[in-house]
Parts: sequence; structure tokens; C-alpha cells
Amino acid sequence: MSTPAFDATPPTLDGFDQLVAGRSEYSIEPPAEEQIKRDAFLEHPLIEAEIELLDDCRIGDAAPGEAIDVSTNSRSGEFDIATSTLAVNGWCVVSNFLSQTQTQALATECMAMYAAQLLTPARVGANRAATLLRGDSTRWFQPDALSPRQQAFADRIEALQNALNHDLFLGLVDSESHYAVYRPGTGYARHLDRLRNNDSRVISAVFYLNEAWQDAEGGALRLYLADQTYHDVIPRAGTLLLFLSAQFEHEVLPATRDRMSIACWMRQRV
Ligand code: OGA
Ligand code: MN
Repeated sequence: MSTPAFDATPPTLDGFDQLVAGRSEYSIEPPAEEQIKRDAFLEHPLIEAEIELLDDCRIGDAAPGEAIDVSTNSRSGEFDIATSTLAVNGWCVVSNFLSQTQTQALATECMAMYAAQLLTPARVGANRAATLLRGDSTRWFQPDALSPRQQAFADRIEALQNALNHDLFLGLVDSESHYAVYRPGTGYARHLDRLRNNDSRVISAVFYLNEAWQDAEGGALRLYLADQTYHDVIPRAGTLLLFLSAQFEHEVLPATRDRMSIACWMRQRV
């Protein structure tokens, strides 16, 4: 598959995700400006405070990128390792966030809604040619009209949100979630999840619905780290990626098959 040509001029982004200007789409090389982000990351007071706070419970932290299986986690709180790893690294990968049955039910609903044309092509601001930057179609969960399977996801997210508030004092008050379907060959160019005029998004949580995903099928979520490396998360059913919305640039690499996710943001009051 050839890489689509992409004009380096930043698009209009009013009120939408901040795409990183001047980056080529699906780029692999970390850019020179990464140093700036890295310095900002290292100086971030929240991270330092949390490392101190967690000094005596580091023993359970996962190595960077190691998936934390919450279904077999025997520590007192099932999310303890996830919250401490998030505090130290700013991101973590959780596996088996929901049961296989619950995950499959969400996948079935997402595909059925897609087939019924209930998902809408995502747009970046007023940019009409947004598909080069962002190729997914999305449908927001309606908080007062959740399907039972969406409710199961929302309950689990709320439990995690409570653990994050309890362990890390994040002051999360609610969340917003949408289904996303990326057709083969589409992705989402490198971006930050914080909205331009709104700091409410604190934690990005991306939950994957794709049964039997093979690495060779592509579609990784590429998370750019502070040390100018990146970590690729395979969008396998049951995997939940968590990261600090304000700090981690990321992109969705194109895949060779349909790729389904639930993108969720836990928010603070602003
Ligand atoms: C997003 C996003 C990642 C994914 O919607 O902002 O980065 O893997 N999604 O679906
Ligand atoms: Mn994103």
C-alpha cells in the first residue's frame, strides 16, 4: 500500500483534536520537535507528584508496554497495577478489561450499527479533505440511552475512573465514548486528544474489539513516548490502552481489515 500524499500545511482545527502540524501522515520517524514534548513531559508536576506518592507500591508496576491482565490480577484492587503504572509512565496497556462475551457483544453491535449506516465519517474541524488525516466513522454513546452492552463497558470504565480518582486524585467526573470503525487502508494521523479550547480530557482510554487480530494486519495504535521512541499497541479484542490525553501524541496505522474500537475520554471539571 502506498503512503497517501499529505500536505504539511496544518488544517483548520477549531474545537477538534490537535493534529500535529508539519507531520507527514503515518510517519514513522520521530520528529525533531519531539525534544520539546519530552522536556514538557519530564517537567510535568503531576507525574512527579505521583511517583512520590507511589514510592512504596512500585513493586507491582508493569514494565513499559507489558499488558496488565486485570482478569487475573490478585492484588487488593484489580486496577492497582494499572493505576500505578499509569502514574509512573503516563500510559499502560490492560488486557481482558471486559470478558470475551462482553467484548464480542460490543463488536457485534458496533458492526451492526456500521452496517445500518449509524456511524458518521469523522471530520477534523472544517477540513473537507479530512479522510487523509482521519479515516474512521464514529458514533457517540448516548449516556441516557446506553444499550446493555454499552452499559457494561460504561460500568467498567466508571470502576476504573473511581480507582484513578482514589489512587491518583485525578478529579475525573465523567467520560465520553464513541464507537469507531476504520475501513482497510484508513488511519488517523499523529495527534493529541486534548481539544483546542478545552482541557477537560485527562485520560484517553481506547478499547479494542477485534477478534483474532494478527500483527501482520497492521492497524496498530502508535503511541509516541517521551524518549523519542514509540510503542505499538495491537488492536486485539479485550485490550484497553490508557494514556494521559494532554501528553501523548499517537496515530492509528492503516490496517488490511476493518478495525473496531471504542474511544473513551475521562474528563475533569473545567
Ligand atoms: C482517537 C484515537 C485510536 C484508536 O479517536 O482520538 O486516537 O485506536 N483513536 O481508535
Ligand atoms: Mn486520539
